[in-house]
This record gives sequence, structure tokens and C-alpha cells, in this order.
Amino acid sequence: MKILITGGAGFIGSNFIFYMLQTHPDYELICLDKLTYAGNLKTLEPVMKQANFKFVKGDIADRQAVFELFGSEKPEVVVNFAAESHVDRSIENPGVFLQTNVIGTQVLLDACRQFGVERYHQVSTDEVYGDLPLDRPDLFFTEQTPLHTSSPYSASKAGADLLCNAYQRTYNLPITISRCSNNYGPYQFPEKLIPLMIANALADKPLPVYGEGLNVRDWLYVEDHCRAIDLILQNGEAGQVYNIGGHNEMRNIDIVKLILKTLGKPESLITFVTDRKGHDMRYAIDPTFIHEKLGWLPETRFADGIQKTIEWYLSHKEWWQEIISGEYQGYYERMYGNR
Ligand code: NAD
Ligand code: DAU
Repeated sequence: MKILITGGAGFIGSNFIFYMLQTHPDYELICLDKLTYAGNLKTLEPVMKQANFKFVKGDIADRQAVFELFGSEKPEVVVNFAAESHVDRSIENPGVFLQTNVIGTQVLLDACRQFGVERYHQVSTDEVYGDLPLDRPDLFFTEQTPLHTSSPYSASKAGADLLCNAYQRTYNLPITISRCSNNYGPYQFPEKLIPLMIANALADKPLPVYGEGLNVRDWLYVEDHCRAIDLILQNGEAGQVYNIGGHNEMRNIDIVKLILKTLGKPESLITFVTDRKGHDMRYAIDPTFIHEKLGWLPETRFADGIQKTIEWYLSHKEWWQEIISGEYQGYYERMYGNR
């Protein structure tokens, strides 16, 4: 099987490449990545020389480059991770989110139509469902929950999902979509909650918690997400949406306190800052469908996953310290300087 993986130099895409190379050593993988601020070729260094892996630098929204790649490589399966993925950046500058997340997806779908594929898989997010109220713990996102987005990021991801549905129905393209909850684990860019709090705590810097820290996210260890996508590729049904999540809801403030405790740092580092605009209150996935259809269940308990993640950031300081010492400082100042 020859798989084109877009966005494979980012957090989940790189973990997926490692997972697939290990699980299916007979597969051929091609990674297409633009190497934006979030893409890091150093992450892929351990596999760059592997005979069944190839890296191509390029933009999924560059029609000519994408069509040339499909023409020369003829992938049988496409898994699209490539995206602008950070909600706060989408609030600052929505345009690039539409360009990559919507137009980029359209270009990939057009290439699939032109060259033919066995499967196109769109990696989507639970954020397309909007949010749930804190006082209704009985409510969960199912595959039937209507799309109802809050941020430019989630709107762009929902736009891409709708395009996928349209190409499936209109052109009969074999498409699957997965909508996963918040991932955590190795190689997550330090702008996201968990790595940002680990990095700040280690530097004894303030930990900026938005609002009162009461927002709830449903955390899943990244390898469990990768395994779910692999199962969807193997046994999933074209035209189907699969929600992925592990019933692991946590309040932001509790995650931050847990990180501080694990690192032996004082809670006085916590600083409550102005809330994110349009901040979603609670995400919670009902994973019944993927469990019943494909037998998927999360394997990593949060207590173990967060421990492994913190240990990874402690033992890979050079990976994230290089990132936060570069242009990221300007971003951090813009985002948190006067907050
Ligand atoms: P990330 O920001 O860490 O990585 C994104 C990758 O895409 C980077 O390597 C970047 O260089 C690449 N990229 C960006 N624009 C591109 C373009 N125009 N052409 C080619 N490559 C481009 O993101 P992530 O957290 O790994 O998320 C991956 C996917 O999973 C995204 O589609 C995201 O919406 C989805 N998702 C993420 C989470 C999460 O918790 N992180 C949860 C559910 C779904
Ligand atoms: O639910 C899936 C989504 O999860 C993915 O689609 C997105 O790509 C991914 O970035 C993530 O979105 P969130 O906005 O939930 O993740 P983030 O890590 O940015 O924030 C998690 C929570 O922590 C959120 O409620 C905002 C809060 N937060 C975040 C940061 C960066 C803070 O309180 N302080 C911070 O500094």
C-alpha cells in the first residue's frame, strides 16, 4: 500500500508516520508538508533514510505541485493531516486557515478525482460540533451532532468536512472523515496547552490560564488517535464519519495543577489571563460508533499518558527549546504580552 500523508512534519502526522512504519513495515509512505512554523523536519530525522519513506516539501494548496506529485507517485491512499491547527492563531489571522484547511483540502480532493485513489481520509476535529454546556455532563458529540462552529479554525475544518461529503456524494470519491478530541503526547508544538505549561513551569515562568480555567477538553494520547485512523483505513466504510475520543474529560486548571505537581513546581506560577474570544466551554466525544464498528478503544490511561508526555519533554529539551527560542518568541509576546 502506498500512502500519501500530508502534514506529517507536525504533531499528529509525525506520530502517525512512526506508528505506520512500525505497524506496517511493508507500506510505502510519502509525506507532503509545507514546513510552516508548525512543521519540523528534525522530528522526522530518524526515518528520513528509511527506504519505504520519502519526504516532499510542498503546499497542499499548490494545485500544480500536488497534481505533479500524484502523477509521479500515484498514491493509493491519502491521509490529510495538513492544516493550520491553532485556534488562537485563527482568531488573530483567519485567512491562512481558509487557504490551507479549505482550499488545500479541495486541491487534494481534486487530485484524488483526477488520479483515482482507494481512499481519501480527512483528519478532522471534534471542534466542528461547537461546544457543550458545563451543566449538562450527560451530553456528548455523536456523528449525528450538527456542525456548529465557534472559531475561524473550526469553521475552516467544518468547511473542509462539508467539501469531503460533497465530493463523496457528487463524484463518488471513497472518503472517510475522523473527528478526534484533544490529543497530547510527544512532538506537540509548544503553543498548545500541555507543552506550553510544561515549558513555562520548567522555566519558572507564569502559566497563563485563560479565564477561570474551567473549560473542559477530552484528552486522548496521540498514539490512540493514530491507531484509530489506521483501523479506519483498514476496515472503515467510505462515506462514514468516525468520532474518536476516550471519555477523558478534564478541566484546564486541573491539567495545569497536575503538570506543576509532577514537576515539583508551585501553584503560585498559575496566572489567570483574559479569556480566549468565543472560547468553547466543553468538548466530549461519544466513541460508541467506532468502538462497535471497528473495535477501537483507547489503550493509554491519562495518568500514564501525561506521565510519559512530561518525561518526553524533559528528555527532549533540545527539540522544543530550539522552537521557543526562535520566531516563537514574537508570537508569545503578541499573544500573552499584555494579556
Ligand atoms: P500541527 O499544527 O502540529 O501540524 C500541522 C502540519 O501541517 C505541520 O507540519 C505543517 O507544516 C503542515 N502544514 C500546514 N499547512 C500546510 C500546507 N498548506 N501544506 C502542507 N503542509 C502544511 O497540527 P496537529 O496538531 O498535528 O494536527 C494535525 C491534524 O489533526 C489537523 O488537521 C488538525 O485539525 C487535526 N486535529 C488535531 C487535534 C489536536 O489535538 N492537535 C485534534 C483533532 C484533530
Ligand atoms: O479538540 C480538538 C482540538 O484541540 C484540535 O482540533 C486543535 O487543533 C487543537 O489545537 C486543540 O484545540 P484547543 O483549542 O482545545 O487546544 P489548546 O491546546 O489551544 O487549548 C486547550 C485549552 O486550554 C483551551 O480551553 C484553551 C486553554 N489554554 C490554552 C493555551 C494555549 C489556556 O488556558 N492557556 C493557554 O496558554
